[in-house]
Amino acid sequence: MTRVPSRTRRPFVGGNWKMNSDRASAHDLASSLARAASSVGDGVEIVVFPPYPYLDLVRAALGESGIALGAQDLSSEPNGALTGEVSAEMLLDIGATWVLVGHSERRQKLGESDGLVADKLVMALESGLHVVLCVGETLEERNAGRESAIVERQIGAALANIPPTHLERMVIAYEPIWAIGTGVVATPKDAAGAHAAIREALASRYDSALARETRIVYGGSLAPGNAKALFAESGVDGGLVGGASLKASDFLAICSAAMIGVGAR
Ligand code: PGA
Repeated sequence: MTRVPSRTRRPFVGGNWKMNSDRASAHDLASSLARAASSVGDGVEIVVFPPYPYLDLVRAALGESGIALGAQDLSSEPNGALTGEVSAEMLLDIGATWVLVGHSERRQKLGESDGLVADKLVMALESGLHVVLCVGETLEERNAGRESAIVERQIGAALANIPPTHLERMVIAYEPIWAIGTGVVATPKDAAGAHAAIREALASRYDSALARETRIVYGGSLAPGNAKALFAESGVDGGLVGGASLKASDFLAICSAAMIGVGAR
């Protein structure tokens, strides 16, 4: 595979806490990460995505550590009579600068369509948030050899109304659904293939320079023991971490692996 220059792509690691933690554990985890952040250094961009109710206390605990705050979802609408929804403006107002869009758990378990994902992406980027856009195929789709077609469709649909200037505030997470929370991690070769397909989709939608500059990270059962091999692939620019992001030492080990993996190329 052709090596993609990674100079412009700072490694990125996100911690997606999902519907886990409580007031005390969210505070403890964020404080531990803040204390240790300097050991990883600013070569890696680190973002945590706690549940909505703890965003504010996590922001306070992160302080000036350099770790950024993100939310796990947002509304596609700006405001109004939408019980239970949370707007982009509200997220910005409490200090969140990132948001996840299109996570497979929302697509699969909560019925989010490609169209809704596209609307949320527009809302987030137009509001000034940074976004991790998640894509990935099911096991059935992979077994049928359709993984590239699926991620290309998801990318095409999500980016339909996104101008090229917005791409610098976006990271794409390739998260094969069969690897999420299962302990079955994609091989570096699987990940590299899917990342290349995503980069090609970006090149045909925009141009090859923009495709080369966009960060694409891997997610799905990332752990300290498997992260380094995945991050050593030239097209893998870091990770989106679920389960292992709930333990400070594991999450920090993955952040360090991103630094080393990218440096080793
Ligand atoms: P996992 O989740 O690391 O627990 O597999 C990853 C994700 O869903 O972002």
